[in-house]
Amino acid sequence: MDTNVQKRRESKKSLRVKVISLGNAEVGKSCIIKRYCEKRFVPKYLATIGIDYGVTKVQVRDREIKVNIFDMAGHPFFYEVRNEFYKDSQGVILVYDVGLRESFDALDSWLTEMKQEMGSQANMESIIFVVCANKVDLTKRRVVDESEGRLWAESRGFHYFETSAQSGEGISEMFQAFFSSITDMCENGGKRPTPEVSIGFTKEQADTIRRIRNSKDSWDMLGVKPGATREEVNKAYRKLAVLLHPDKCVAPGSEDAFKAVVNARTSLLKNIK
Ligand code: GTP
Ligand code: MG
Repeated sequence: MDTNVQKRRESKKSLRVKVISLGNAEVGKSCIIKRYCEKRFVPKYLATIGIDYGVTKVQVRDREIKVNIFDMAGHPFFYEVRNEFYKDSQGVILVYDVGLRESFDALDSWLTEMKQEMGSQANMESIIFVVCANKVDLTKRRVVDESEGRLWAESRGFHYFETSAQSGEGISEMFQAFFSSITDMCENGGKRPTPEVSIGFTKEQADTIRRIRNSKDSWDMLGVKPGATREEVNKAYRKLAVLLHPDKCVAPGSEDAFKAVVNARTSLLKNIK
């Protein structure tokens, strides 16, 4: 075969991508990458100093993907080093520790830092995000449950995986889905599918589940003022029941939210004449 034709074919098949890892210090970013690339786990904490860089080759369908991995330090001290490395990423691995709520709450500020540093280049639609709910092996200390994490991720159009760098759970599935989505995006003109098309639930449903989860009492949960009438309670209940009924709503956590709303209504009606 003509060598130029062969070269062109090969270059069409091979792809070079850049991915970065983000999340608070000590959540397990480096261990997740190590588990995937070196198939091992190091229990001792060795904080990443600034950035670690590595290259790996993966096969997605008929394409060879050369992946440049930039493993960021999560500690605020390294902000000045990190901020240079956000640009030109096709994929982001966002990690939190399921036993530390503040590491989950921090995901929003990691996205904010990233957008800020990318500046005018910040086209978040051209980046594949995967959220790792890590350290799921430590079941006793878990404080952020699956539906909460999944809802945060999927309502933004991000992948969600439960992972353990220690046991290896979820790690290869996560990387496979991640690289396959990055390849799909590159083949489809550099845009990922919009969440509305891919996830099957609305922002209103996601926001309502979150609000219910954070409500302070039954009044608050139904969104009525303390002292509301039976009619007001029933009206609010019906609206939420239509929105969250498990037959209609596939958002993570909708079943628990629906049950909580039913219970809130029952307990309020007991005390209203
Ligand atoms: P920085 O580099 O400081 O941002 O931290 P990091 O997010 O890279 O954390 P690292 O991977 O270094 O892991 C931190 C600590 O958590 C280490 O002691 C790891 O052994 C431990 N660890 C990481 N993943 C897991 C896991 O899935 N399960 C358990 N039990 N421990 C883990
Ligand atoms: Mg690290």
